[in-house]
Amino acid sequence: MTERLAADAAGIARAAALLCASETVAFPTETVYGLGADATDAGAVAAIFAAKGRPRFNPLIAHYASAAAAFADVVATPLAERLAQAFWPGPLTLVLPRRATSVVADLVSAGLSTLAVRVPAHPVALALLAAAAHPVAAPSANRSGRVSPTTAAHVLAELEGRIAAVIDAGECPVGVESTVLDLTGARPRLLRPGGISLEALAPFLGALDAAPLADAGQPLAPGMLKSHYAPTLPLRLGAREVAGDEALLAFGPPLPGAALVFQLSATRNLEEAAARLYAGLRTLDAEGGRRGLAGIAAMTIPEIGLGCALNDRLARAAYRDTKD
Ligand code: TXA
Ligand code: MG
Repeated sequence: MTERLAADAAGIARAAALLCASETVAFPTETVYGLGADATDAGAVAAIFAAKGRPRFNPLIAHYASAAAAFADVVATPLAERLAQAFWPGPLTLVLPRRATSVVADLVSAGLSTLAVRVPAHPVALALLAAAAHPVAAPSANRSGRVSPTTAAHVLAELEGRIAAVIDAGECPVGVESTVLDLTGARPRLLRPGGISLEALAPFLGALDAAPLADAGQPLAPGMLKSHYAPTLPLRLGAREVAGDEALLAFGPPLPGAALVFQLSATRNLEEAAARLYAGLRTLDAEGGRRGLAGIAAMTIPEIGLGCALNDRLARAAYRDTKD
């Protein structure tokens, strides 16, 4: 049985106690719900991989209450410090060389010499990290390959009975995962578009190495796996018309004729659409499946600002390996 905890002082204290006792606890961040465990405890981290059914080669992000705490585990460059100053707490993850003195379990970074670190902006996450007093490893709190959760109900739908507890703090305000930047090479490299837009990062980055990574074989960031964030119904992108047996993921005035519509943002606001994306995919998938619909059609979203992260997630959700 998974404990439901309120997002108050007692709930946060209980969650911190569970983390300190090697248990897994789902908690809200500003992006999506994370499935946390004590990052310094290899057994607890292994339990995250088991609960999610996540491949062990896919490394996790270590979450901290402050930049100072994060930079005690990794070697910060001047650029990392400027980015942390500008965007932390917030939806930016930095991949940096791990310090030899770090007591974060090797399993967190899947044995790599680097570690992904972030300071989340959600007050409940920050309070939990402060109370736990150790870094918390946390992937999104969904079964591996599925859509990330933006409510506690989404978490429980997939992980009930598989994790010790979930803190319920309502909806996540950003709705898509953090932007992941690798700062270990000669140039910064975008591993995953996310909650901080490239436009916001641009003044800090100079030349960005945005070489496509999806075909590089072993994924550097397994959010880069082609198929990810997948609903069960087939998803069709860039729809200009919609069939009567399709569900529509609308962005702006909906195309006519859909059997079922989920509006991401009637006013074409990208922040609102990001916050609603995963709930929309879940709703259309569940309701469309119940009604026996053929698939989901998604309207075009502009490739600017958070639109880049939205389109990235939609492309992965739409990808189907023809071999299975
Ligand atoms: O917003 C978020 O980032 C959420 C919340 C819970 O913080 N977390 C999240 O974690 O999305 P996850 O595990 O679903 O995605 C982490 C991404 C993966 O694509 C992973 O491969 C990449 O970060 N990553 C982690 N450590 C890495 C490393 N050392 N080198 C390269 N990529 C890494
Ligand atoms: Mg994930």
